[in-house]
Amino acid sequence: MTHDPTGAPLEPLRVLSCDLPDAGATHEFGVALGRVLVAGDTLALVGPLGAGKTHLARGIAAGLEVPSDAWITSPTFTLMAQFPCREGTFYHLDLYRLGHESALWELGFFDVLHAGGVVAVEWWDHFLDTLLPSTLLVKLAPVPDRPDARTLEIWTLPADGWEDRAARLRRLRLDDPCI
Ligand SMILES: Nc1ncnc2c1ncn2[C@@H]1O[C@H](COP(=O)(O)OP(=O)(O)OP(=O)(O)O)[C@@H](O)[C@H]1O
Ligand SMILES: [Mg+2]
Repeated sequence: MTHDPTGAPLEPLRVLSCDLPDAGATHEFGVALGRVLVAGDTLALVGPLGAGKTHLARGIAAGLEVPSDAWITSPTFTLMAQFPCREGTFYHLDLYRLGHESALWELGFFDVLHAGGVVAVEWWDHFLDTLLPSTLLVKLAPVPDRPDARTLEIWTLPADGWEDRAARLRRLRLDDPCI
């Protein structure tokens, strides 16, 4: 757990909240988010199965200027994919099938986190204690009675340059119909 200078645990702050009426809106939000991300950003994409995490990641890749033909949907499951992008490298990981935290070391997960690219991780919440203080927590949730809608929230701890992260996300908020 991360603490403030007085030793008290830091409370996460919600920096953004959005209604995404359909899959297209999620993609567009991802594109806008990808445009304000910078090298070193890490994102935990959380939400239930089918919430739209991969859909969002694809939008983020587009916003980061990953070449469109580089995003190959492999028929076999991959834990990690990496793509060249505006900020160097975009890493997209899915930890759903990772059995135990120790397997993160075999995967090179901690090297990737510190490699200076942009990192988006699905199911990182399975290994919550490995989140960095600077990680943006992006939560997607289904909406009752609206099968194609999702709510999206972005949370961060007030640690490690959070003012910069919040300012970049606020810029995104101005351009989009977020609440
Ligand atoms: N508003 C929405 N945002 C995102 N996806 C949506 C939305 N409405 C419907 N969908 C559909 O929901 C599905 C989301 O699939 P996706 O693979 O992105 O989910 P996921 O969260 O990555 O699932 P998993 O946990 O299995 O990896 C897609 O088929 C998409 O078309
Ligand atoms: Mg997925």
